[in-house]
Amino acid sequence: MKLFNTKILGTGSFLPDKILTNEDIAKRVETNDQWIIERTGIKARRVADLSKGENPSGMAQQATLRALEAANLTPNDIDCILFSSTLADQAMPNAASVLQFKLGITNNCPALDVNAACSGWVYLLPMADAMIKTGMYKHILVVGSEMLSSFNNWDDRNTCILFGDACGVAILGRSSETEDAKIYSTVLSSDSSKKDHLTLWAGGSNKRITKEVIDNDEQWMTMNGQEIFKAAVKTMASHCEKVVRDSGFTMSDVDWFIPHQANLRIIEGVGNRFNFPMEKVIINVDKYANTSSATVPVAFDEAIRDGRIKRGDNVLFAAFGAGLTAGAVFFKY
Ligand code: UT7
Repeated sequence: MKLFNTKILGTGSFLPDKILTNEDIAKRVETNDQWIIERTGIKARRVADLSKGENPSGMAQQATLRALEAANLTPNDIDCILFSSTLADQAMPNAASVLQFKLGITNNCPALDVNAACSGWVYLLPMADAMIKTGMYKHILVVGSEMLSSFNNWDDRNTCILFGDACGVAILGRSSETEDAKIYSTVLSSDSSKKDHLTLWAGGSNKRITKEVIDNDEQWMTMNGQEIFKAAVKTMASHCEKVVRDSGFTMSDVDWFIPHQANLRIIEGVGNRFNFPMEKVIINVDKYANTSSATVPVAFDEAIRDGRIKRGDNVLFAAFGAGLTAGAVFFKY
């Protein structure tokens, strides 16, 4: 059987216009700009506006139009949609199907939602790679679109400072015979022994959102920040080392590293574990905070559009999130 190499044909991202600064948050909870910057590196985040259609599928529509333009494709060229969101528009219909409709895609392509929390978009890449390699699909749209502002407790200073809304997408397709773009190696994992450190218990089948749930303030995310922090550094660093080693390369062959953007100290902690130069790390957590599974594709799109990442570069992605899920992908762009 002929196998194809996977190439990232185009990327796009969407950030809501509304900016919420640390000073804005300090008007509501007891915190301050200096504390947030020192402990997280975050200065601001974006907040989606539902009245402008900025829900996960709506943000994905805007980001995808940009990616289609970059890839020189039309909506009906997409033959598979994979959509990562921690909490998508609604339970049914799934966001990938809603996105298919919003994009005007009429080819009835499959449309699948996946939730692996902040790792969701990176989780989808090995799956899309396998489908491209075997020739199952030709143009797979991989979406990470998140509206954490809808389940972020704006009265809890431990969590509300950390998150923002955004969408990033990539369209994956085949490398031609003369191109060398390919995904070298991937790793995915989940350590469920730590699953209770980052949770959102209400809103699923177990616990619907009732008046009692709201009275008890159970409709929000809860987090054990220090446990997540330690696990994030350790797991992302070991996954990065594994995919680069498995590809037959060393860290010095990595041109650009795009880690999940949760906290600048986590990013520095990962880089320090393998003495990676910070100038080769793409960072935007200061501007957008943690946008869950959108962080990596948004940072990737920005770095391509501003000219830092170029065709032929070796790029390393790493992600980490609730579950505790994690993953890394190493590829030639
Ligand atoms: O995608 C994965 C999602 N989650 C994460 O990545 C989170 C990972 N964890 C973290 O980023 C960090 O653990 C935090 C930023 C959440 C917290 O930083 P920390 O250095 O671990 O602080 P801490 O939890 O040890 O809190 C230190 C102090 C506490 O006060 P006391 O007990 O020492 O008096 C907190 O109550 O800081 C206090 N504190 C705050 N103070 C001002 C906690 N949040 C705030 C705040 N403003 N927003």
